[in-house]
Amino acid sequence: MRCLSRAIFIALWVKRTAGENVYDTTICGQKSYTDKSRDLVYTPNAWNADDQGFQCMSVRNSPPAFDATWEWPTGRDRVHSYPHVKLTTPDAGTVPLSNISYLRLSTVWSMGTGSSPHPAGTIDESGMSAQDVIANVAFDIFADHDPDNAHYEVKAETEIMIWLGTFGKPYPLGWDDPSCCGNTTVGGVEFNLYRGKNQRGTMVFTWIAESNQTSFHEDISPLIQHIWRNGLLPEDTQVGLISFGTEAYYSTGTVTFSAPEFDICLLTGEAPLLPVGPICSRPKSTAAGIRPSPWLSGLTIIGTVGAALYII
Ligand SMILES: *[C@@H]1O[C@H](CO)[C@@H](O)[C@H](O)[C@H]1NC(C)=O
Ligand SMILES: *[C@@H]1O[C@H](CO)[C@@H](O)[C@H](O)[C@H]1NC(C)=O
Ligand SMILES: *[C@@H]1O[C@H](CO)[C@@H](O)[C@H](O)[C@H]1NC(C)=O
Repeated sequence: MRCLSRAIFIALWVKRTAGENVYDTTICGQKSYTDKSRDLVYTPNAWNADDQGFQCMSVRNSPPAFDATWEWPTGRDRVHSYPHVKLTTPDAGTVPLSNISYLRLSTVWSMGTGSSPHPAGTIDESGMSAQDVIANVAFDIFADHDPDNAHYEVKAETEIMIWLGTFGKPYPLGWDDPSCCGNTTVGGVEFNLYRGKNQRGTMVFTWIAESNQTSFHEDISPLIQHIWRNGLLPEDTQVGLISFGTEAYYSTGTVTFSAPEFDICLLTGEAPLLPVGPICSRPKSTAAGIRPSPWLSGLTIIGTVGAALYII
């Protein structure tokens, strides 16, 4: 498959150049940056900023990579920013859920304290806990019955998040609804599904990995099938946008999330029939955590993920 070799190529390239830390741009707040040659849009997306903190993002075009450096020392219970890269464009069209036959999400990322990137695939555990960091790392898939809306975060009626990392126990929307929605294992990793609406009225599905996946290269189409084959969404719901980034809630000091590798590979065609588990299989959660505040055709190859360095 063409997309497989492409991902491997990117991974090798990053390894060879690791340590150079050369960035094409640094943007902060609500700005965005488009790498036109690769159709990638980078956005620090400090959509809920307060004046105590900041969100910046440094981007390298080739190979695509970004570092997201931030600090939000107040308001533990809410997302302040979602620095991310958009991996699909409106030109790529849309694909109905039932026509996603393969969707591989690939990334290697790191998270740690300070304003410099940590080694790829690592978590600075002691630093994260010392700074009381609350954040996640997620791919975000936007969908709508109307293909025009499916390309836009704020218009799409549905969002399917895949959390590959969680720090400080952020709760997904719908964490307190035991009636929804079951679990599925992909690549040996168990994911649990939650469903709830955000303030904008978007229905958000959240798949959470049982442990942090700092190096992930898996076909997650079973997670998509679990949703529509169980009737949680109509099968003709159109997917129009996939992004990758981190939702930043809180930290007493500076944090840097690095994504030196990201890629998606989508193959369309009638989805192969996979067995899906039941949607009601989760014991009601009582654990303490951070309550949520509320976000392609033929053989299509789209995507990449990123990394960049920001020095304060
Ligand atoms: C991810 O790593 C952090 C820091 O070590 C840890 O506190 C957290 O529980 C981990 N998340 C999962 C889902 O295991
Ligand atoms: C996962 O789902 C199965 C049923 O498919 C259920 O027996 C099991 O308890 C679930 N695991 C968790 C952690 O919820
Ligand atoms: C499903 O995928 C096939 C193969 O790419 C394509 O020919 C067909 O038009 C798609 N169907 C829909 C409804 O998008």
